[in-house]
Amino acid sequence: MNIQLIRRTAMQVYVKLAEILKFPCFIQMELTTRCNLMCKMCEHNRMAGGGVVNFEKFKQLFDAIIKANPLSRIFPKAMFFDLTGIGENLMNKEFLKIIKYMKSKNVTITFATNATLLTEEISKVLIKNRIDLMFISIDGATKKTYEKIRKGANFDKVKENIIQFTKLKEKLKRNKPKLMIRFLASNWNVEEMPMMIDLAKELGVNGMSITNMNTSPKEEYLKANKERFNELAKIAKEEGKKEGLEIDIGFSKKRPINQCNRAKNSMNITCEGFVLPCCFINQGGQYKEIKEKYNFGNVWETNIKKIWNSKAYKKFRKDIKKGLAPGICKDCYLYYPIK
Ligand SMILES: C[S@@+](CC[C@H](N)C(=O)[O-])C[C@H]1O[C@@H](n2cnc3c(N)ncnc32)[C@H](O)[C@@H]1O
Ligand code: SF4
Ligand code: SF4
Repeated sequence: MNIQLIRRTAMQVYVKLAEILKFPCFIQMELTTRCNLMCKMCEHNRMAGGGVVNFEKFKQLFDAIIKANPLSRIFPKAMFFDLTGIGENLMNKEFLKIIKYMKSKNVTITFATNATLLTEEISKVLIKNRIDLMFISIDGATKKTYEKIRKGANFDKVKENIIQFTKLKEKLKRNKPKLMIRFLASNWNVEEMPMMIDLAKELGVNGMSITNMNTSPKEEYLKANKERFNELAKIAKEEGKKEGLEIDIGFSKKRPINQCNRAKNSMNITCEGFVLPCCFINQGGQYKEIKEKYNFGNVWETNIKKIWNSKAYKKFRKDIKKGLAPGICKDCYLYYPIK
C-alpha cells in the first residue's frame, strides 16, 4: 500500500482525533541540531554549535506525551512520531537508545537521514526495532550533483550504506523500515529527477518522495523552475510506477491555509524544547528568530498538554480554520491566507 497515501489520509483523521482527545497523535521532534554535513540549501549552515536531547530528558518528555494522549494506551501504533529536525539523528549518541525505548511502547516512528553514518551495526538496530519509515535524503542522481549539494558526503559510500541496509533487511526477512528516497528539487538538480528512478531501483528502496525547496526571499532563485519541476515529476512518477516504486510529489501549488492539517493535528518540538506548529518554517533562513518569537511554550518548562491547550495555541488553530494566517505562517511556502 502507498505509504504516503496512508500518511496523508491519516493526517485528516488525526485532525479529528486531536480535537476529541485534546492532544495531537502526530509529534515531530528534533533530537539534535548537530550534523556531519553542510548541505548548500540547509538551515544548518546558519546555525551555531549544535544541541542534543539526551536520553533522560527525552524519556521525561516522551512519557509525558504518552500520558497526555489516552490513545497511546489503547492503540499506541496510532501515536506517530517523526524524529526529523535540522540535524542528523545519528550524531546524537543516544539516538538508538531513544528509539529502542520508544519502540518498547509500540509507537510509530519515522525520520529522515543523510545515510552517511549507517553502519551495518546501526542498520541492524534500526531494522530489528521495526522503525516504520525512513527517508533517505539524496539530492542528485550523479556523484557530481549530489556531492556539490550535500557537502561532506560521499555518493559512493552513501549508496553502499543503503544497499547494505536493503540487503540486511532481506537477510533478516523484515519488510520494515520502509525506505523512501527524499529528493529535494532545486535548480541544481531538477534535471536529474527522472534518473533518480534508476538510482532507487539500484538501491532497492520502496520509493521516492519529491519535495520543493524552501528558501529565504533572497534565495528564491535556487528553487527549481516550476514548469520543469512539474514536467519532470510527471515523468518520474510514470517511470517509477512502471518499476513498482511509490512516488510521492509534494505540493507544487500553494493551497488555502484552512487546509493546513499540520497546524491542527501536530506539534513540532525543537531541540531546545520550543513548541512550533510545524517544521515547514524551519528552512527559510530565520529559524532562530521564529523559534524565539513564535513558540507556544517550552516543554522543558511547561507540561506539553498544557501548551497544546493554552489560549494562544487554541487561538492559532482557530485562526487557521478561519483562513487567517497567524504571524508564524505569514511566509509559509505551502499555504496562503484566504482572509
Ligand atoms: C534538515 S534534514 C534533517 C535530516 C537529515 N540530516 C537529512 O538530511 O535527511 C531534513 C530534510 O530537510 C530537507 N531540507 C534541507 N534544506 C531544505 C530547504 N531549504 N527546504 C526544504 N527542505 C530542506 C533535507 O533535504 C532533508 O530531506
Ligand atoms: S540537510 Fe540534513 S544532512 Fe544536510 S546539513 Fe541539513 S541536517 Fe545536515
Ligand atoms: S507555516 Fe504553513 S505548514 Fe506550518 S502551520 Fe503555518 S500554514 Fe501550516
